[in-house]
Amino acid sequence: MDKSEKKNNESKIQCGKGIDIGTAFIKCAYKEDNKVIYKKQRNAFFEIDQSDYSKNILDTHKIKYIAKDKELYVVGDDALEFASIFRKETRRPLSRGVISPTEKKAFPMIQLLIKSVIGEPVKQGEIAYYSVPADPLDADLNVVYHRDIIAELLRNTGYKPKEIKEGYALILSELAERDFTGIGISFGGGMVNVSFAYKSIPILNFSLAKGGDWIDHYAAKALNEPTSTVTRIKETMLDLDNIKELSSIESALSIFYNHLIEYLIEHLKQQLSKDDMPMIEKPITIVLAGGTSLPKGFTGRFKSILERSNFPIAVGEIISAANPVNAVSNGALVAALSDSENQ
Ligand SMILES: Nc1ncnc2c1ncn2[C@@H]1O[C@H](COP(=O)(O)OP(=O)(O)OP(=O)(O)O)[C@@H](O)[C@H]1O
Ligand SMILES: [Mg+2]
Repeated sequence: MDKSEKKNNESKIQCGKGIDIGTAFIKCAYKEDNKVIYKKQRNAFFEIDQSDYSKNILDTHKIKYIAKDKELYVVGDDALEFASIFRKETRRPLSRGVISPTEKKAFPMIQLLIKSVIGEPVKQGEIAYYSVPADPLDADLNVVYHRDIIAELLRNTGYKPKEIKEGYALILSELAERDFTGIGISFGGGMVNVSFAYKSIPILNFSLAKGGDWIDHYAAKALNEPTSTVTRIKETMLDLDNIKELSSIESALSIFYNHLIEYLIEHLKQQLSKDDMPMIEKPITIVLAGGTSLPKGFTGRFKSILERSNFPIAVGEIISAANPVNAVSNGALVAALSDSENQ
């Protein structure tokens, strides 16, 4: 019997999954009993010495790890906990949106993390749409290599991989009621990804190799503070509406948020001003998502910077995705479900 067929009390997982492979997190969306379920793992690992911690202890505590040679690698959310106990940094398989060229252990780590969020396929060859960055305008990153490696890792897990651009997935997720017309901007950890579509036809895709990590790094550097302290403050208390009585770290974060948004808008203006851009009569909706868009006041900050930017096209609403963290995996799921129906 096919796993997708419902047995008596068993839940039914629909065929077709969406997976968002990000610099900071790997997220997956799938449909079970007609409800969308999201799963997430931190895209990070931490190396420990086998002599200090036996595999048994990790097994007892159900901690995800990989054992290789004389080392044990704790992966995902547990890695962060270990790193903070040992006062060290985690390592990341991805850097600036693509597989890190300097991290030799990247492949087995991503393989394990992908497996842990996507699980077994409902049937062999089930379609999984995975998000990929668009070509970056400001960095020479090997996006093609990255796409092929992730496809291979998904194939090894029993899926039929299909790629979808991160910004475009955001449009599929959020702009159905607007005829899939608008600009989707995903502000992530390593990158900002942008797509512009007209009635679901992609007109423009690009990425910039700056994001939340860049904000943390430069804010920390400006104040000579540990990056982890700056990241924690950013994620737990930053309010971009508040412009008075800011701590030095909040002020630095606010300044680098401005820089990132201005940098994105400048590049977007340049791309939209190109001669081959189609003329669209109606004002365009812009949808914002990604972990870096989470602080209170982000959408307002974006709006005010855009308003004074001499933007080349008429902008309608500027909205935040209903679920900014999961919108990309949800868009990939929309593509996967529609494709699976036609299979
Ligand atoms: N509440 C929050 N406030 C501000 N920033 C946050 C918050 N939560 C997470 N972040 C930041 O969001 C970033 C991760 O966002 P996201 O999960 O969208 O990235 P990603 O998809 O993994 O990366 P990318 O798309 O760039 O490859 C990190 O920089 C993280 O510090
Ligand atoms: Mg992302």
